[in-house]
Amino acid sequence: MKYIVELNLDYDKNQFLEFINRKNLNYDAMAEKKKWHNNFEIEELDLGPIMNYLKDVVLILSLFPKYQIPIHADGAGTRLDNTYNVSINFPVKNCTEETKTHFWDFEDNRPIKYIHHENIGTREIIDKDQLVLKQTYIFKDKPALFRNEYPHSVENDCNDLRLMLSWRFKPEYSWNDAIKICKDLNYIND
Ligand SMILES: [Fe+2]
Repeated sequence: MKYIVELNLDYDKNQFLEFINRKNLNYDAMAEKKKWHNNFEIEELDLGPIMNYLKDVVLILSLFPKYQIPIHADGAGTRLDNTYNVSINFPVKNCTEETKTHFWDFEDNRPIKYIHHENIGTREIIDKDQLVLKQTYIFKDKPALFRNEYPHSVENDCNDLRLMLSWRFKPEYSWNDAIKICKDLNYIND
């Protein structure tokens, strides 16, 4: 339970897909710019009480066909409004065995240190060549708590665009806070 935890949280995948489709994103232009995430108002999306702890925007994650996102951590980590440690990621389209998320860590589990890139909203990992692969996770039908602050990479081996929604916790909530909140709401079985 260090990097990712599946949640028993019901959501309407079709509603989430309609939400994404309505944004008419230009995926080709985004792929050219290597920009795979876009923030949007939540509009009709409703998850109930967990929303008290989540931001009032959601991120559409577009993983382009045959595309790899190198090891990074999410959020710029420089201010409260651009930092987040945990999200709930919802599989929406083309989440199969052919799209994989890898989590990386140091062998000795020492703390991760970052170079902060505010302009692209991401954190580079110091000494990332020393990271080792710790876990590979495949999104299919279940949402999962995702530890954004930890190094991860993503690969899409198929010819289709993979779509997910990432709904982030407000920056004041840590990984352990998020686990407790989800346990209290019965999204995680003990
Ligand atoms: Fe990421």
